Amino acid sequence: MSDDTHAKLVALAKWGEPLDQVIHRLVTQSKGLEDVVTGQSSICFIDGVQGRLLYRGYDIVDLAPKSTYEETTFLLWNGHLPTASELHDFSSELSAKRAVPAGVLSILSGLPSNCDAMDALRVGVASLGIFDDPMYPSQEKAQSIAAKMATLVAAIHRLKHNQDVLAPRDDLGYAANLLYMVTGEKPHKDDERLMDALLILHADHELNASTFTARVIASTLSDVYSAVTGAVGALKGPLHGGANEKVVEMTIEIGTPENAESYVDAMLARRQKIMGFGHRVYKTMDPRAAILKDMAQHFTKSEKEKKVFQILEKTEEMMETWKSLYPNVDLYSGLALNHVGIPSYLFTPVFAVGRAPGWLAHILEQYADNRLIRPRAEYIGPTHAEYVSLEHRTAPAVMKH
Ligand SMILES: CC(C)(COP(=O)(O)OP(=O)(O)OC[C@H]1O[C@@H](n2cnc3c(N)ncnc32)[C@H](O)[C@@H]1OP(=O)(O)O)[C@@H](O)C(=O)NCCC(=O)NCCS
Repeated sequence: MSDDTHAKLVALAKWGEPLDQVIHRLVTQSKGLEDVVTGQSSICFIDGVQGRLLYRGYDIVDLAPKSTYEETTFLLWNGHLPTASELHDFSSELSAKRAVPAGVLSILSGLPSNCDAMDALRVGVASLGIFDDPMYPSQEKAQSIAAKMATLVAAIHRLKHNQDVLAPRDDLGYAANLLYMVTGEKPHKDDERLMDALLILHADHELNASTFTARVIASTLSDVYSAVTGAVGALKGPLHGGANEKVVEMTIEIGTPENAESYVDAMLARRQKIMGFGHRVYKTMDPRAAILKDMAQHFTKSEKEKKVFQILEKTEEMMETWKSLYPNVDLYSGLALNHVGIPSYLFTPVFAVGRAPGWLAHILEQYADNRLIRPRAEYIGPTHAEYVSLEHRTAPAVMKH
């Protein structure tokens, strides 16, 4: 143990506490690695107490309404906002890489129509690794994946519904083209703006489960496609990216704003979690939820949307009063995604499209200063189990500690 580490542990020790106990305490108190700092990064900063989220120092409060997918992606990868000519070149490069190889589309078209959209996306990203040019340097591969994520998701949607897969349009920005490839129609400027904001708000979130997965894979010096494929798998879970779809199911179940109180009451009594609330890092309202809620107040027009908004707001009120739990990004994102024409079952794949620039920024940062990520576990199993040969084994072998 270095002198520095020794000094840090001494500083963390309680009065008279031996150092091995300090280590044990730190490990066992951090189930789920809560509050454990596993490395350094200059990409994203979260202030969980104040409810702030910064990409490379820029507040999402400024980026979401003003920036675009392309500009924010450039920022995440390069550490500074692009000049006009940098943005033009970067956007053109991304646009030129949007088309997905025919071999990948052929694999996707062979999947059963009831295939989960995130499973299909995982297959799609993994297949890109086989069909993309293996000689691309990592930066080019990152660009290729980010550019193609939206094309993959739109293709998955259209193949599922026996519709023609639409080729990307290079006269449209990333967000508008995504909506075009899903719906078949060029979106209204307001919807394009909202889609850009949604992609920006999902672009990065420090060491969330999927980004951490991507970094672990990159740290073995495996390739970029493998790291993003792993991240897609991690994002699929309902405790991570899958929550927004569950929020929509919840609003349908609640039905009217008047039912929200009894619904929350019954769920909490059964110790069940309400999707769209709580966060490992934020101890206050997730700033992304606050921005989306504010936007929702402007874009909700139909009676149906207004009712959903009221249900969510009522649920929010109950959760704050009874549990001191606040909305996370997933509470209001579904309302916005449905508004721009994204069906609920595509929410998590579209989340992946938005998060891909963040995953890729972290993968590139990991490669740039790599050390294998290989933590330890506190072993709590037996240590002297006796091997009994098969013919003498009558019951489970007795474990001796
Ligand atoms: C996001 C989440 C996984 C964070 O989990 P975590 O930091 O591990 O927190 P825990 O699950 O240990 O929860 C801590 C306490 O708050 C409660 N809690 C947390 N989120 C809750 C929720 N959404 N509904 C009801 N109770 C919740 C837990 O039941 C637990 O209570 P207890 O101590 O009385 O048992 C968790 O809040 C959650 O499951 N939320 C719902 C899913 C969701 O919206 N995910 C999207 C995240 S962006």
